[in-house]
Amino acid sequence: MCGIVGYLGARDCTSVLMDGLEKLEYRGYDSAGIAVFEGAEIKTVKTRGKLAAMSEKLEREGSPKGHCGIGHTRWATHGEPSDVNSHPHSNGRVTIVHNGIIENYAELKEFLTEQGYTFLSQTDSEVVACLLDYYYAERNPLHAITETLKELRGSYALGIIFKDFPERVYAARFGSPLIVGLGEGENFIASDIPAFLKYTKDYVLLDDNEIVRLDPNGARFFDLHGMSIEKERQTAEWDVEQAQKCGFPHYMLKEIHEQPDVVGKMLDGIVKDGEPDFTQFGVTDDMLRGFRRVFITACGTAMYAGMVAKYAMERLARVPVTVEIASEFRYMEPIVGEGDLVIVVSQSGETADTKASLELAKELGATTLAVVNVKYSAIAREADICINTLGGLEIAVASTKAYSVQITTLYLLAFRFAFARGEIDENELKRLTEQLCGTPKLISDVIERSDECQFIASKLVNTETLFFIGRGLDYALSLEGSLKLKEISYIHSEAYAAGELKHGPIALIQQNIPVITIATQRHVVEKTISNMEEVKARGANVIMICREDARVADGKADLRLDLALGELDDLLAPLPTMCALQLIAYYSSILRGNDPDKPRNLAKSVTTE
Ligand code: F6R
Repeated sequence: MCGIVGYLGARDCTSVLMDGLEKLEYRGYDSAGIAVFEGAEIKTVKTRGKLAAMSEKLEREGSPKGHCGIGHTRWATHGEPSDVNSHPHSNGRVTIVHNGIIENYAELKEFLTEQGYTFLSQTDSEVVACLLDYYYAERNPLHAITETLKELRGSYALGIIFKDFPERVYAARFGSPLIVGLGEGENFIASDIPAFLKYTKDYVLLDDNEIVRLDPNGARFFDLHGMSIEKERQTAEWDVEQAQKCGFPHYMLKEIHEQPDVVGKMLDGIVKDGEPDFTQFGVTDDMLRGFRRVFITACGTAMYAGMVAKYAMERLARVPVTVEIASEFRYMEPIVGEGDLVIVVSQSGETADTKASLELAKELGATTLAVVNVKYSAIAREADICINTLGGLEIAVASTKAYSVQITTLYLLAFRFAFARGEIDENELKRLTEQLCGTPKLISDVIERSDECQFIASKLVNTETLFFIGRGLDYALSLEGSLKLKEISYIHSEAYAAGELKHGPIALIQQNIPVITIATQRHVVEKTISNMEEVKARGANVIMICREDARVADGKADLRLDLALGELDDLLAPLPTMCALQLIAYYSSILRGNDPDKPRNLAKSVTTE
């Protein structure tokens, strides 16, 4: 949700900011803007639209030339995407960029209006610029910032420049990520590390209620009282390549192709002597034996990864698992407490609802375990236990490889859980682990069949609506397959448990409506095929994704993608099967002329409720 950058150093500031914004565009792409000191003057250029529109504007109107400035790429919350609502916002003496939501902006706006301030935009962010100016009476930037922060409610990461200080960039955060990049004679602020990875791997994480000042002497950190504080310097493990497309036309396709590798890495990280070992994260068999119940809470794709985990954990460990959407969990007064394990799953580790659910679970006395891809994120740092998934940088808005490493991790946890609770013996633990270790190869096999997935996509492009159906784990997959397809192809899609169809939704089935039937679970495959036949009898165009030995009467499936899963345990079928669904979604998006990396209305890392 919005990306911010800031730079102070010898390089051309506009180029550094634009480079950084390109790496952060996954956070929002409704509009973009920069403000750069040209001598003593601040020159601001901003425009509605993606970063490409901003580049064109800079080309047309000339780029600001300077060495200090801030930039922003927006996902609109308050006020439509427009030039005037684009960041940076300024009132003359103070210019800011903001990521987050100022919840009390209306009341602050009223107060500031009474003080004589006028507002140009409909954004909540503009009040921050005015409030900073209001507290800047003593011409002390740090004082203005600390006083302003005390008045703000909501979440924010702010980049701030003061007209009187052409060689300073300030930043502050509460609830939204902000990282300080430390280079040789140059420093950066950014919402995420890739924005400055090209220049430095060294960084400092700003915590809530902390402020940083970049000036020619380096970066200095302050608390809310304006007192100087020391911060730990860290080094990023990612390299620049990860932030590039490396010859793929889109990040999404690159990330789909990375799945065999990242799943393999995840397995290498956890499997020791042929079995999952979680002691490196502080998770022992004793601890696992002690939990009465498990809750998994997350949003979107991460929540659907939780659904796969529910089937695996309940089936193997015989422990009750409840999966809740995080935005529901946090307000439902959940009956959770001591003795319960609450697992939160998140790629970004910044999702507002997931973070709030984690905080609530901790407050209620549960043990919290985070399965998180971004190691330095708030969720990773706040959970009692954190298992860092090794998906690497995921840039495409639609999550693919993060989902695969999430389910890999959760499978391994389910195996260990089952062993710790005496539900499976060591032989079975090793057998399941070995099976899981074979999935990277099966995912590669699916990737090799991209052409067939593209062919299936070509049969969907002209439809307005379609269905996914499946039972058990195939139902969990249907939900994720449907989400992936709708978010990047914009085809309306619904996922149903196959047996539920005739309790209402079958009324929507008519001639040529595509129904994608997923049938990898052998104990229910015949039932699923019967449901498939029911829709076929009503004119549906049936596309079946199944094990190669699934037996279907001639003419019942219009198209089949037979997956050669060999002896793979049904429990693990979601890993290779999902890859086919991701490819179908990807090609549907391409064939409809969309940008799969930046689907409309969406942004990665949802830091607002
Ligand atoms: C869909 C997608 C989203 C995210 C969801 C949670 O492709 O990416 O549904 O899964 O917004 O995000 P994280 O995992 O960052 O908490």
